Amino acid sequence: MKKLQFPKKFLWGAATSSHQVEGGTKNQWSKWEKENAARLASEAKTKWQPWQQEKFPEMFEAENYISGSACDHYNRFQQDFDLAKELGHSAHRFSIEWSRIEPEEGKFDEKEIEHYRQVLIALRERGITPFVTLWHWTNPLWLEEKGGCESRDFAKHFAKYAEFVASKLGNEVEFWITLNEPTSVIASAYLSGAWPPAKRSYLASWKLYATFAKAHVAAYQSIHALDENAQVGFANILHSFAAYSEKSWLDKIMVKTGRHVANKRMLNLTEGFNDFLTVQYYFHNRFKFPKKLRLADKPENDLGWEIFPEGIYHILKRLKVHKLPIYVTENGLADAGDEKRMDFIKEHLAWIHRSMEEGADVRGYFYWSLLDNFEWDKGFWPRFGLVEVDFKTQERKIRPSALEYAKICKNNELELE
Ligand code: FCB
Repeated sequence: MKKLQFPKKFLWGAATSSHQVEGGTKNQWSKWEKENAARLASEAKTKWQPWQQEKFPEMFEAENYISGSACDHYNRFQQDFDLAKELGHSAHRFSIEWSRIEPEEGKFDEKEIEHYRQVLIALRERGITPFVTLWHWTNPLWLEEKGGCESRDFAKHFAKYAEFVASKLGNEVEFWITLNEPTSVIASAYLSGAWPPAKRSYLASWKLYATFAKAHVAAYQSIHALDENAQVGFANILHSFAAYSEKSWLDKIMVKTGRHVANKRMLNLTEGFNDFLTVQYYFHNRFKFPKKLRLADKPENDLGWEIFPEGIYHILKRLKVHKLPIYVTENGLADAGDEKRMDFIKEHLAWIHRSMEEGADVRGYFYWSLLDNFEWDKGFWPRFGLVEVDFKTQERKIRPSALEYAKICKNNELELE
């Protein structure tokens, strides 16, 4: 038996986002879901493998694709944070829903600020440190009418909203995350067209890097103007890349390009405006020119995403040069049967620990997600939760892997066989 010790103040927890758990949100996603649910249900037949179709027949029902009341976390956050506490979490990442705070342009809703104040107090009462995300992909409808993320004033609007929230809730928050995964939005909403507004434009995609960087920097500055001690960063999805053959310069060029576009560009554009870095790790890409290669014998999750724990080690090692603290703000898998989750967490943590031994300044780990929730264009069938949710009754059930993760959180130590 090997025991890996983590540093004393290491933060342990899980993450969620408003649209995926709260229920009752009104934003560009909830609008798009209603317009596209029937289409998504009928496309499931061609999109997913036979084993997935058999295991998750919900994917053929239109209601699967409508977030609706989600986990009703808006009303049940106290009970959900009791679970997080029971599971030994010392930190929790959640997002504030912009469309609730600013339902009309320039009109801020104090009642909703009060709601999130209660959320923050509930965490503090349980000794849980909040990480607050200001934008986890959802735009208020008034902003969508102005072009959403492509609106010329997106950064200005976002910074104003961020400033308002920080001015009201800053006393309760040390860690702010401005934007969640800008590059996922660029890729899936503006390049592949899978997410609203379902565009396929290289030009729009390229321009959005600058827009998101501007929005982050503006929010970073407004939050710091209010509180110079605030810790501000953005949540960056970082992919693992490998060349199929180290001898092929074409495979290697693909790796370099992938790394630049997916991992580095947003970091470069926001250089100097991050108090900490983040890692959200889900994907390993193996390139055999001119394609991404899938190897049949690799372990995968319910969504068919390859499980490659070593990838996080290489990602963390590459971030060392920035000399900033790092938080793993998302890492997780869809695993309805809870068969692979425990090993997944342990193996990723072992690789994270190794990167720390080699100098990566990692200070926290947030599993995605605390609860089963609404997985965007895939709907409810992918089950990422430490806690299982019955979406009909809203009953919560702690999964066995969550209890194993709880031991790690409580002991600050990972035991390996
Ligand atoms: C991340 C998102 C998060 C969730 C997980 C599975 O890219 O930030 O909302 O959907 O993937």
